Amino acid sequence: MDHAEDLEVRLATPDDAPEIAALMEAQYGGGYADPTYTDPAALRAKLAGGDVRYAVARAGGVHAGQMAVERCSRHLWEFARALVRPEVRNQGVLLALDQALLEQALRPDRAARFFFARSVTHHLVSQRHARRVGARALGLLLGLWPASALEGAAGAAPVSALLTGRPLAPMRARRLALEGRVRARAAAVLEGLGVDASRERLTAGPALGVARADVPALGLVHARVGARGRAPLVALPDDLARARDAGARVAWVDVPSEHPRAPAVVGALERAGFSFGAYLPFGGLAGEDVVRLQRHDGPALGPDTMRLLDDHLPLRDAVLADAALARVEQACA
Ligand SMILES: CC(C)(COP(=O)(O)OP(=O)(O)OC[C@H]1O[C@@H](n2cnc3c(N)ncnc32)[C@H](O)[C@@H]1OP(=O)(O)O)[C@@H](O)C(=O)NCCC(=O)NCCS
Repeated sequence: MDHAEDLEVRLATPDDAPEIAALMEAQYGGGYADPTYTDPAALRAKLAGGDVRYAVARAGGVHAGQMAVERCSRHLWEFARALVRPEVRNQGVLLALDQALLEQALRPDRAARFFFARSVTHHLVSQRHARRVGARALGLLLGLWPASALEGAAGAAPVSALLTGRPLAPMRARRLALEGRVRARAAAVLEGLGVDASRERLTAGPALGVARADVPALGLVHARVGARGRAPLVALPDDLARARDAGARVAWVDVPSEHPRAPAVVGALERAGFSFGAYLPFGGLAGEDVVRLQRHDGPALGPDTMRLLDDHLPLRDAVLADAALARVEQACA
C-alpha cells in the first residue's frame, strides 16, 4: 500500500508520547535498551523538557513512524531512534521525518551547529539514508554493541557503530594540536566536512580533568577529558585499567583536539592500546571538538564483522589498521 500521498509529518508534542512509546514497544517488545523510551510518562517528560525532540508521521490516519533529535551539548545534536511501521517502509517516511526535524526542530535553534547519527554496521539502510542527507563519516566505533543486544545481528561478533554527521552552519578552521596517525585521521574527517585543519597551534589551554559517562549495560567505559572534568587526569590510566579488570568490553576517551596537551594525552593512550575512533565536532564537555580514542577488548574485529557502504571502506581499513597496531604496540610495551 502506498501512503506517500497522504503522509503528514509534524513535530511531536508531549501528548504524542503514548503513540511513540507504543510503536517502540511493538518493535522491540519490551527489550529496548533504554526503557524511558517505551514508558509513556518518562517519554512525555523528555518531550516537555525540549532536549529530546521527535517528528511523527501519520499515513492513512494511522501513526506511521517517528524519529528523534537529542541534544548532546549546546551545539551538537544526535539523530536517533528512527522507527517506521513495517507496512509503510520504503516509501520515504524516514526521509520526511528527517527533513521535518532539520527544518522545524534544528534550523530555528540558532545554537544548533552540527548533527551526527550512529548507524549499526550490520545493515546499510541508515548508512544510505545518512548519505542522502549529506552526512559525512566521522568515525567507526568498534564493537559498541554486544551481538545479543541487536535484532538481526549476524553471528556472535559485537556490532560496530559508524558515525556520520554534518554541519548546520559554516564551521571555522580548526587548529588541530594532534600529531601522527590520530592527526591524519582527524584531518581526513575535517576535510570530508569541508573544514580546514590549520597547523597553527594554541600555546596555552585550561587545566584538564576527567568526567565519566560510562554505559554499564553495554560494558562501555567513557572518559571525557576537558577543562570541566572534575576528576584528576593523573588518575585516568589506573581508572581505565581497573575498569578493564572489572569486565569493561570497550573504553573511549574523548580528548579536546585543539588543546595544547592533546598530543601528550593521546600519546599516553596509544601506549595503553588506544587508537582513533572518531572525530566529533562540538562533542566535548564545554562544546569543544574532541577526538575519540577507543580500545575494544576481546577478539580483534575484522572487516568481515561489519557491512559498510563503499564510501566508508577507507575509514574502516584505517581504523582497523590503527587498532591492530595499537594492540601490537601494547603487547610489546
Ligand atoms: C530504518 C527505517 C527507519 C527506514 O524507514 P523507511 O521509512 O522505510 O525509510 P525510507 O523509505 O525513507 O528509505 C528506505 C528505502 O526506501 C526507498 N524509498 C523511499 N521512497 C520510496 C518510494 N516511494 N518508492 C520506492 N522506494 C522508496 C529509499 O530510497 C530507501 O532505499 P535505500 O535504502 O535502498 O536507499 C525502517 O526500516 C525501520 O523502522 N527499521 C527498524 C528500526 C531501525 O532499524 N532503525 C534504525 C536503527 S540504525
